[in-house]
Amino acid sequence: MNKDHKVLYSGMQATGNLTLGNYLGALKNWVSLADEYECYYGVMDLHSLTVRQDPAEFRKRARALLTLYIAAGIDPEKNCLYLQSSVPCHAELAWILDCFTYMGELSRMTQFKDKSAKHADNVNAGLFTYPVLMAADILLYQTDVVPVGQDQLQHLEITRDIAQRFNSIYGDVFAIPEPYIGKVGAKIMSLQDPSKKMSKSDENPNASIYLMDDPDTIRRKCKRAITDSEATIAYRDEQPGLKNLFDIYCTCTGKSSDEAVAEFQGQGYGQLKEAVGEAVVGILKPMQDRMAEIAADKSYLDRVIKENAERAYYSANKTLRKVKKKIGLTEMPR
Ligand code: TRP
Repeated sequence: MNKDHKVLYSGMQATGNLTLGNYLGALKNWVSLADEYECYYGVMDLHSLTVRQDPAEFRKRARALLTLYIAAGIDPEKNCLYLQSSVPCHAELAWILDCFTYMGELSRMTQFKDKSAKHADNVNAGLFTYPVLMAADILLYQTDVVPVGQDQLQHLEITRDIAQRFNSIYGDVFAIPEPYIGKVGAKIMSLQDPSKKMSKSDENPNASIYLMDDPDTIRRKCKRAITDSEATIAYRDEQPGLKNLFDIYCTCTGKSSDEAVAEFQGQGYGQLKEAVGEAVVGILKPMQDRMAEIAADKSYLDRVIKENAERAYYSANKTLRKVKKKIGLTEMPR
């Protein structure tokens, strides 16, 4: 990691089955950011506790997500890839920041409103203070930029508000993070309803390609993708299903939409769907194989988890100590 670079922070939750949308829209783009930024990527396992988890399954998934980061090409020597729960500073700073965050601003978070409606039987306090933990994640590393999707922008906004509020009382303790604007990933839509984003929580399994789907499943899902009855090969908003297929094809192959449209001109949708299936298999299959390889070497993964957590802790603790000192908590006597 280059400590002279600006700091970039992002992360994903280890719950649900990640989809092709998560890969093409986020992960894939994280790979090359290490050339320009000092990058931290967390497996946000503490955030996942807002929903009840099966312990054994949860432990496996957290490790699997870290493995996926590596298999996707994010080098754990050049980036800091770690489990959020391995660095106790996150929970500690979150509590402190809770005391600088208002009930009113948290109740306005759209994700809180959506999730509490969806899980009406478990509206726990963690769900409510979720954005504060996220603020702690970001602020601990003196983060300059955060690549996040549209759905997380409000959380980044509240992070900035909390940081500014704290800084205005205690001086410049936190860097104020900005949303990352650079090459953004492709926005991949549902294969069954191209007006919706491809989502890991879609109840229709044909709507999403999961990163762990086997090649035949991937081909079948592509074949069943919803298109239209116009029977013309074009890349335009009026044919959203087709457009989505082209987006997938182009992101996987690196071709432009013009090139792809020219390539399939005069052919049927069936041929395009087949080619999309092959392109996706061509990306996902090698990644799955790499995951299996990495997972088979337990001592390697253990070492990555440990070394990266130590590096993360070192940076995070620097900020946390400064915070504690500023607000008047007693330092451990030497
Ligand atoms: N809330 C984010 C999501 O669900 C995950 C997340 C937690 C995150 N902490 C973060 C993303 C810090 C970016 C930075 O997608």
